[in-house]
Amino acid sequence: MDFSIKAPDKASALNAEKTGCLVVGVFENKKLPQLTTALDRAGDIAAALRSGDISGKAGSTLLLHQTKGFAADRLLLVGLGKDGAIADKDFSQAASAIANAFTTLGAKDAIVALPLSEVKERDSGWAIRQCVSAVHDKAYRSDTMKSKRDAAPQGVKKIALTVAVDAASGARTALAQAQAIAHGVALARDLGNLPGNICTPTYLAATARKLAKSHQLSAEVLDHKQIEALKMGSFLSVAKGSDEPPKFIVLKYQGGQAKEAPAVLVGKGLTFDAGGISLKPGAGMDEMKFDMCGAAAVLGTLQAVAELKLPQNVIGVIPSCENMPSGRANKPGDIVTSMAGQTIEILNTDAEGRLLLCDALTYTERFKPSVVIDVATLTGACVTALGHHNSGLFTRHDDAHDALAEELLSAGKASGDTAWRMPIEDSYQEQLKSNFADIANIGGPPAGSITAACFLERFTKKYTWAHLDIAGTAWKSGAAKGATGRPVPMLTEFLIQRSAKKPKRK
Ligand code: BES
Ligand code: MN
Ligand code: ZN
Repeated sequence: MDFSIKAPDKASALNAEKTGCLVVGVFENKKLPQLTTALDRAGDIAAALRSGDISGKAGSTLLLHQTKGFAADRLLLVGLGKDGAIADKDFSQAASAIANAFTTLGAKDAIVALPLSEVKERDSGWAIRQCVSAVHDKAYRSDTMKSKRDAAPQGVKKIALTVAVDAASGARTALAQAQAIAHGVALARDLGNLPGNICTPTYLAATARKLAKSHQLSAEVLDHKQIEALKMGSFLSVAKGSDEPPKFIVLKYQGGQAKEAPAVLVGKGLTFDAGGISLKPGAGMDEMKFDMCGAAAVLGTLQAVAELKLPQNVIGVIPSCENMPSGRANKPGDIVTSMAGQTIEILNTDAEGRLLLCDALTYTERFKPSVVIDVATLTGACVTALGHHNSGLFTRHDDAHDALAEELLSAGKASGDTAWRMPIEDSYQEQLKSNFADIANIGGPPAGSITAACFLERFTKKYTWAHLDIAGTAWKSGAAKGATGRPVPMLTEFLIQRSAKKPKRK
């Protein structure tokens, strides 16, 4: 998909643009946005609206061919809802209707002339992202494993978004960010959708190496021996139940000075979670191939960061293995020793994510990070608590962590990839008491997502840290089954914002 920004001196220049399709907005109540009025010199658009062929409701569309006063082959009228300031939901609906229409049009190129700066409480950068992500979303296919791939989508391949002249440079930046995020999301979705027999820890490691080659990144992959030498007894206890070799992946991006403290993203990389000896029920177990979506989001975000050449250091850390039942697997009651030296009683082998993450979080100390965010499809309890709209956000409750939570929540709102903050309190730690080890790996049914976060918290005392439980947001079930690529938009936006706040280097 080829996107660009067009900033005509005056709106009327668009009348003379030769293009396959010019997209203009219309409102309900038979009203037109100023920009559309300026273009509609012969009054055909107003007439189409009066005819009732398009309601103007958000997402309604009408195609007109060879309209008087336009050099474009077609006009696509799209409804933006009520007139005046446009509601952001209405704009999103319009963007997705346009993207939908683009997939079936005979046109190869299009110019979008919408009032991008007139969305309520949003800026044109936001509107540009909506358009770009909608187009990528509609074009996305998960058919790489089908023997006969779906026919390649026809339609518009080249899209110009128009803005006012004085907004052009901001719009180009927003477009670059939108595309980097869309590419990161696509990578995360592709990895998530691949089956567990293809997307193994070895495959994730190879993907990281490939990313390092194609982008300005460096990859290091630790194998079983090296992981053992680091004394990651907790991580390895999960891995040993599987015949697939575990990998510990470190992917580095250096956009800041060498000595600058990096932001570290830690992603849970369970390429299949059968539950181990505490075997999961059969129904829906296939969806546990998505248990590496935290890892996928870390890879997608690092790709986006590298594509945008953000001026800061970012490191991705991914512990990856399978959780399988076997004669060598963890058994309930087993006690293992983590890299930090804390002993863990494994009361349920299906609570394996935290067993990987605790060692990865301890390993992360060596980077002296400015901030650490772990991303994990960690608990079914988080899905019960928050459903599929918000990821769970967990941090300690002090000034530094409250500020970090604010940053992440607002990055979520800005990118439409939202999170909801949950509590971490010492009172919940009680539930993790073990009679035989320093800590148990489960805290019983109450507040399952919180006790999981409390478990991780014990391994993060040396830095500022947040945990994102993406169990409800990383993929969709049912007819729309597939990875969403979340939270790549939130994490990338978070890092973009942090770069913007940095004092400029001379
Ligand atoms: N990967 C799962 C969490 C999960 C389950 C995500 C269902 C999305 C949907 C995780 O490893 C797990 O199995 N967690 C257990 C923890 C429990 C044993 C304390 C869970 O949530 O049931
Ligand atoms: Mn599990
Ligand atoms: Zn899991």
